[in-house]
Amino acid sequence: MTKIYLKVWYFYLIYLLFATISSAGMTYGILSSGYVLDDVLNNDKTKLIIDSIFIIAGIAIFSLFSNFNNFIIKPRAIKKMNLLLRKLIIDKINAMSYEEYSSNGVGTYISWLTNDVDIIESTVFESSFTISNIIPQFFIIGYSFYSLNWILGLIAISSSLLCTIIPFLFVKSNIKYQTKISSQSELLSEDLLSYVNGYQELSYRNKKRLYTELVNDANLSYEKTKSKFLIFRNFQSFLSNMITISSQSILVIVSLYLFTINKTSAGAFLSSPGIAYTFFVAIFTFSRLISTIKSTKEVVLKYKNVKVENDYEPSTINFENIIVKDLNYSVEDKIIFKDFNLSIKNHNKYLLIGESGKGKTTLFKIIFSLIHNYEGEIKINNKLNYKDIDQRDIWNLISYIPQENILYNSSLKNNITLFNKTINDSEVIDVLNKVNLGYLLDQMSLNDHLNNDANNISGGEIQRIAIARALLQDKPFMILDEITSGLDEKNRNNIESLILSLNKTILYISHTTKIENNNFDQIIKL
Ligand SMILES: Nc1ncnc2c1ncn2[C@@H]1O[C@H](COP(=O)(O)OP(=O)(O)O)[C@@H](O)[C@H]1O
Ligand SMILES: [Mg+2]
Repeated sequence: MTKIYLKVWYFYLIYLLFATISSAGMTYGILSSGYVLDDVLNNDKTKLIIDSIFIIAGIAIFSLFSNFNNFIIKPRAIKKMNLLLRKLIIDKINAMSYEEYSSNGVGTYISWLTNDVDIIESTVFESSFTISNIIPQFFIIGYSFYSLNWILGLIAISSSLLCTIIPFLFVKSNIKYQTKISSQSELLSEDLLSYVNGYQELSYRNKKRLYTELVNDANLSYEKTKSKFLIFRNFQSFLSNMITISSQSILVIVSLYLFTINKTSAGAFLSSPGIAYTFFVAIFTFSRLISTIKSTKEVVLKYKNVKVENDYEPSTINFENIIVKDLNYSVEDKIIFKDFNLSIKNHNKYLLIGESGKGKTTLFKIIFSLIHNYEGEIKINNKLNYKDIDQRDIWNLISYIPQENILYNSSLKNNITLFNKTINDSEVIDVLNKVNLGYLLDQMSLNDHLNNDANNISGGEIQRIAIARALLQDKPFMILDEITSGLDEKNRNNIESLILSLNKTILYISHTTKIENNNFDQIIKL
């Protein structure tokens, strides 16, 4: 968060300058309005007219400064800050380990990027501007009171202190609400996401009503909490308003009394409630703001120490082999690997078979360095221990293709390049031909849009697109996890012969492929 503030400090400088000018001008305007009463009482008509013109013109001009701040400077700064904040959140997601990332649903991350940004914008960012507004106000108003009468100042200050206490009384409940809203927003995003994804399923089953009911339920519980919180906060404002109103009345009475005993002018009597009001608003906003920042602490702290991935220097590893030695791995007391050994040599092709639940995918996750809490040793080229090298070095060596491959809601080209803008069209066409998808270009252009419902793209074609993606990245070792499990035999044979023709190290995981009819270098049975 501090990083964000450091990047936009100049906005605050301008804001503070304009806020100081406008509060000084406006307060002086209110103060002077009292003098008009003195002019009336002294029957000085010329001075009355001049004073009035000055006051009206002054207030108009100075309000321009505060409007400029709030209408121009603040929105621009907030835009920039939100951009930086989302970048920070993305960096945080990027820096998460596989285990950490998969401990949350996708909706959680959507909520971070939407709800959390809203919360931080409306509390932390907004508040920091309010503080810049209040600081000059305090000094100027304090001075105004002093110039009127110190007793008035004393009353204003003591009742302000009372106002300040109110929000602090409710900090704990505020934190509870804020945390609840955050988690409900994450839940709402999760739910909305699964309902939107499941829309087709539910509508094909003629369950559209269920779809709307599910969405409404998630929506309702989130909005309920939000509205409860709002009412609770309004109650706090109500208490503070009561104190403010009573203090103002006291100020009017005291200044009237001071006027009758000639301790202050009639003008002071007229302007003191106005100044007091500005003062109370300032002090109340200030205290409420501190309590809001406190109650959003949890949200803010999540993004405190975000490591950005720019310090990574890829090391050059000429892939020769990967040796898995005495691998032991259990999940929840279930032994999946016991003293398991495996040697993968460059340019060899391996078929990994085994019934469902035997640990094929787990082995892939271990070799791909997604799982780290195993026992045993895995080394690259007989010397680099997995546990000593950067995970990203391993990802640079291995590309993987999962069982279910998705199409992105984007062009055919982006679906192949994975949004890498440096790859040009001819490279894409090349790789399409390599995976026998060249004919697609007779039906569509590279810029045509694909999506998951593309009924012109078959399951086998999606798997080929996934292989094309991996080929473009050109890593020496490819792991393919049950990529043909949804395909018929003809398509499966087709893909298998494509895989076998590639000039790469291949670990092909399949529980449907028959051992007899293949051309793999080695078959590993789990
Ligand atoms: N996150 C997990 N929590 C509990 N059990 C798991 C988890 N991941 C895998 N397993 C268990 O590990 C075993 C191997 O799973 P997996 O590697 O996916 O098998 P395969 O790919 O061969 O079908 C399974 O019995 C599964 O129940
Ligand atoms: Mg599996």
